[in-house]
Amino acid sequence: MNPIYPVVWSNNKVLLIDQTCLPNQYTLVEISRYEDMAKAIKTMIVRGAPAIGVAAAYGMYLGAREIPSQDREIFLKQLEKVAEILRQTRPTAVNLFWAISRMLKIAYETIGTVEDIKNILLQTAQLIQKEDLQTCQAIGNNGLKILPANPEKLTILTHCNAGALATAGYGTALGVIRSAWTAGRLKRVYADETRPRLQGAKLTAWECVQEQIPVTVISDNMAAHCMKQGRIDLVVVGADRIAANGDAANKIGTYGLAVISKMHQVPFYVAAPLSTVDFELETGEQITIEERDPSEIYQVGNTRICADGVDYYNPAFDVTPAALITGIITEQKTVKPKELITLK
Ligand code: MRU
Repeated sequence: MNPIYPVVWSNNKVLLIDQTCLPNQYTLVEISRYEDMAKAIKTMIVRGAPAIGVAAAYGMYLGAREIPSQDREIFLKQLEKVAEILRQTRPTAVNLFWAISRMLKIAYETIGTVEDIKNILLQTAQLIQKEDLQTCQAIGNNGLKILPANPEKLTILTHCNAGALATAGYGTALGVIRSAWTAGRLKRVYADETRPRLQGAKLTAWECVQEQIPVTVISDNMAAHCMKQGRIDLVVVGADRIAANGDAANKIGTYGLAVISKMHQVPFYVAAPLSTVDFELETGEQITIEERDPSEIYQVGNTRICADGVDYYNPAFDVTPAALITGIITEQKTVKPKELITLK
């Protein structure tokens, strides 16, 4: 099976796998303008914290390329505007803001012409992408070290998609699962379908099928029952932003999963790169939670499922308190949430 790369730089354009079409259609979308990249992030053609970071980094380069001025000051001022449009796309995943800041910093630090800055920006976007791939592979290796010795072949449950599609490739939570599979330690993956956008059913399950990893999709409300039946040995999820105290924001439903994992004494791990840790936030209370369109709730496919006159609340993420997290698997090592600060 060919590796899955959700963001590819090719012939002076970015190619994105359109994640809104999977698993029924594998479609590539060409992006040559930064405003189209902003739209692709907003509409979730590309999604998942690290993948959003990589996409935004290329978006910064595309935006830089569109600035005609050769005057450094004017160029940097317009680049700030590009950064602001990209920042407005999604509020929770910190990798977006992290990647944009890194791109801006390198632009300010580069001595030379505007063309020199543009070249460095492209190289930096490519570097961010390369580093994320290596980081995910390191997370996968570190994840192997925390797998319980018994049973020999584990059943691991995951929520949402924290796989190759959500990163530069390989994945964080699904990276751990991939590594476990390669090492012969995995029996099966349970993938929560992940209402309302169904990233588990549509994306995680698709990734597993590509690699012939046995996968069982369950609806989100079945996880507690499966744990009670002893079907789940371990839970691994990704994260969109982790506060300094180890509280972790991830796809809505993750918090509930952590609560039921505690109840059933199932180890609950978060796998994430250090670029997902926001050391400026003391606790998860300070994380902005994105609210998305109510149609994600009242519509299934093209069919409306609720009566007119119903109200909706559609938070896209929740925050799992550090106390419910067994460990955070990073590219450096796995730490207890309260030790996260030592990796700053
Ligand atoms: O709304 P999404 O699909 O962007 O949310 C994605 C998640 O919550 C992932 O679990 C998280 O970004 C980790 S990705 C490695």
